[in-house]
Amino acid sequence: MKRSLSLLVVTLALFSAIATADPEPLQDVCVADLTSVVKVNGFPCKDAAKVNATDFFFDGLAKPGATNNTFGSLVTAANVQRIPGLNTLGVSLSRIDYAPGGLNPPHTHPRATEIVFVLEGQLDVGFITTANVLISKTIKTGEVFAFPKGLVHFQKNNGKVPAAVIAAFNSQLPGTQSIATTLFAATPPVPDNVLTKAFQVGTKEVEKIKSRLAPKK
Ligand SMILES: *[C@@H]1O[C@H](CO)[C@@H](O)[C@H](O)[C@H]1NC(C)=O
Ligand SMILES: *[C@@H]1O[C@H](CO)[C@@H](O)[C@H](O)[C@H]1NC(C)=O
Repeated sequence: MKRSLSLLVVTLALFSAIATADPEPLQDVCVADLTSVVKVNGFPCKDAAKVNATDFFFDGLAKPGATNNTFGSLVTAANVQRIPGLNTLGVSLSRIDYAPGGLNPPHTHPRATEIVFVLEGQLDVGFITTANVLISKTIKTGEVFAFPKGLVHFQKNNGKVPAAVIAAFNSQLPGTQSIATTLFAATPPVPDNVLTKAFQVGTKEVEKIKSRLAPKK
């Protein structure tokens, strides 16, 4: 009895160790048919006879993205939606550009761990554990920092020149929930009385944040 219980525990532990990222592929390639109306976990494969190099290629990370927006940063994703060949392969990249003072605001990726490589500049980065411990560091050109799966994290360019990173993910589509916009710019809106209680502030403050974060018309 005791032995079978410990076997079960070991089996469950092994299973969770191999099942924490995207599922393993069951064929060489399954290039996403992004236009298919069939709904599956991921995307259905397009006809193998129609697969070519274009399905595995993207040049959108070559140049800096425009950072003249509210937060002074721009994420350019190279995920399965841009590179259909990534379907079922469990990896993707992004390029993030930061103006001086620019912030990639606190957010989580529900489906991936992230690791960033600094292309240029210097960033103050950090993540917060579920025990509310902030793990933070300043990183510069050529350096690497990792953000564990699902944890809230951010990057800020406190320098006087632009900064940029390449971010890698162990998911074809990591997903992003930006904490402030998730709570204050959802559609339909999260009720004010949820936010006033959660943040221990008044309705006026909540309405002010909501108006600032409202999607630009
Ligand atoms: C790949 O196939 C598409 C059409 O499916 C075509 O437009 C494109 O030119 C092809 N690219 C290469 C590199 O052969
Ligand atoms: C950002 O700059 C580009 C190019 O200079 C411009 O076309 C665009 O309208 C600007 N966007 C905003 C939000 O100011």
